[in-house]
Amino acid sequence: MAETKPMILVTGGAGYIGSHAVLALQEAGYGVVVLDNLVYGHRELVEALGVKLIVGDTSDRPLLDQLFADHPIAAVMHFAAYAYVGESVTEPAKYYQNNVVGTLTLLDAMRAAGVNCFVFSSTCATYGIPQTLPIPETHPQDPINPYGQTKLMVEKILDDYDRAYGLRSVRFRYFNAAGADPNSRLGEDHNPETHLIPLILDAAMGRRDNIAIFGTDYPTPDGTCIRDYIHVTDLAAAHLLGIDYLLQGGKTEVLNLGNGNGFSVREVIEQVRQTTGRDVVAVECDRRPGDPPVLVGSCEKAQNILGWQPRYGDLGQIVAHAWQWHQKRYGQH
Ligand code: UFG
Repeated sequence: MAETKPMILVTGGAGYIGSHAVLALQEAGYGVVVLDNLVYGHRELVEALGVKLIVGDTSDRPLLDQLFADHPIAAVMHFAAYAYVGESVTEPAKYYQNNVVGTLTLLDAMRAAGVNCFVFSSTCATYGIPQTLPIPETHPQDPINPYGQTKLMVEKILDDYDRAYGLRSVRFRYFNAAGADPNSRLGEDHNPETHLIPLILDAAMGRRDNIAIFGTDYPTPDGTCIRDYIHVTDLAAAHLLGIDYLLQGGKTEVLNLGNGNGFSVREVIEQVRQTTGRDVVAVECDRRPGDPPVLVGSCEKAQNILGWQPRYGDLGQIVAHAWQWHQKRYGQH
């Protein structure tokens, strides 16, 4: 008989990265329950995966207590968070409430229920402006926006909760999540969309006239910002390894997740032109406030501790999967 694996609570499982993690957990044989308030998540993604969805907030303590009473949860993967950097500057209260207070409520409900394994979505935005590249996990953390602050605050809370309550966590600091499930069952669907690759694909598809390049005077070889794009399916695979690791008694760890390679905005646009065979009009614009010139991660630690290795490290493959999903999502144009 196949081994029955424990049940995992995935908050934010109706979102982009969360839904890919749900799929990875399912494929590995774990039971899954999703908690999502559906503010930015998509009910149909969870339903398509045939997973139980509980609609609600992580700051709803009675709901959480009931959820833990009703389900034999062994560990929590916590994706639920607001993640628009620009909005976090204009509406910080929304971010501190959801990302910090909501997480604290969830952690306290876990303590009450005796659940002590937690996989947390942190971000390279906690580093602020890099002092060294590629960025190691030991790099100082000095976020330049409230979004990054909220994630850093949760990291600090997790340190204290481990010391005092034995709540062990794996915190993944992602670089730029991109791509889509290679079989197009899931993909990126933000509203509003602010991320570079789906916006370029919109331009390739004629859903927008052009792509704006935010800043061409950065101290980089072609003047545009450089980012480390990591395939969402590789992120999901790392989360699965993180759960296995914690359930086997692993201690708290902080791990970067990226490919360790940087691509400029112009290079990404060129990759989309090549992959799609479409013309993409690029318009040079002013810098977007708050963008560090270069963000590239040093990711050996995740490889050493979890045995994680990106499968889809090639930018062409990341864009090809995103394009396949984009065409499925919006129809062939
Ligand atoms: N960019 C453009 N034009 C656009 C959109 C983006 O030139 O229309 C540029 C940005 O200025 C940036 C790069 O493309 O240089 C990537 O931008 P994204 O918005 O796709 O991603 P970010 O690097 O800003 O954000 C990501 C995550 C955040 C996280 C951040 C950490 O989405 O959640 O990395 O820096 F906080």
